[in-house]
Amino acid sequence: MFTHPINDNLLLRLPEERDAEAMLALFENGRNYFTYWSDWPKRMQTVADCQALILRHRRAFAEEKEIPAAMIYQGQFAGISSLEIQERYVVKKGELSYWLGEQFQGKGIVTQSCRVLLAHAFNDLGLNRLFLRFKHASPDDENSGSRRVAERLGFVQEGVQRQGGVARGQFMDMIVYSLLAEEWQTGR
Ligand SMILES: CC(C)(COP(=O)(O)OP(=O)(O)OC[C@H]1O[C@@H](n2cnc3c(N)ncnc32)[C@H](O)[C@@H]1OP(=O)(O)O)[C@@H](O)C(=O)NCCC(=O)NCCS
Repeated sequence: MFTHPINDNLLLRLPEERDAEAMLALFENGRNYFTYWSDWPKRMQTVADCQALILRHRRAFAEEKEIPAAMIYQGQFAGISSLEIQERYVVKKGELSYWLGEQFQGKGIVTQSCRVLLAHAFNDLGLNRLFLRFKHASPDDENSGSRRVAERLGFVQEGVQRQGGVARGQFMDMIVYSLLAEEWQTGR
């Protein structure tokens, strides 16, 4: 288990079943906000759905396939940032992803949380390459908040997965950003 304080307002810890009610409230209060860029939040309809999601994260952590971090802002569950460890010993790569409650935007919560996951990935797990992806429906209809997170963290845009994702019931391009250990070391 882990608890990682970032500052007086923000700490990271493993998601726990007791977070399920707060998680459901975020999805219910932000239905349109979440489902604008992703379809999976539609399936979060009950406390049991959220508990099942939390147990999947905890199982993946126990199997050393993921570092799921619940972002706790001023004592409140704000969302999850996750480092998926895709291959650890040869290609040494992983994927960063996150979701954040609507009312918690604009506070640097995702950026600061992801910085901790990056440090753990490169310094402790010895990964070499991390990437993150976000949806792009058109030049003026993309998850620009995610692009800014990627660029704030020093990630480099490397390509587009054409129709690599689905949101609003339609296929959407996924913009891919990546960060290498050497860039992280020199950028720090
Ligand atoms: C991607 C997303 C989660 C990013 O949220 P965000 O609040 O913009 O990101 P952060 O938590 O890193 O906060 C960064 C913002 O806080 C501000 N900020 C305040 N204090 C800060 C700090 N200490 N460090 C960094 N930024 C800070 C920044 O100016 C920045 O605002 P800007 O992007 O308008 O310049 C959000 O835009 C989003 O997509 N929400 C949709 C639902 C969702 O979670 N989708 C993900 C897949 S389901």
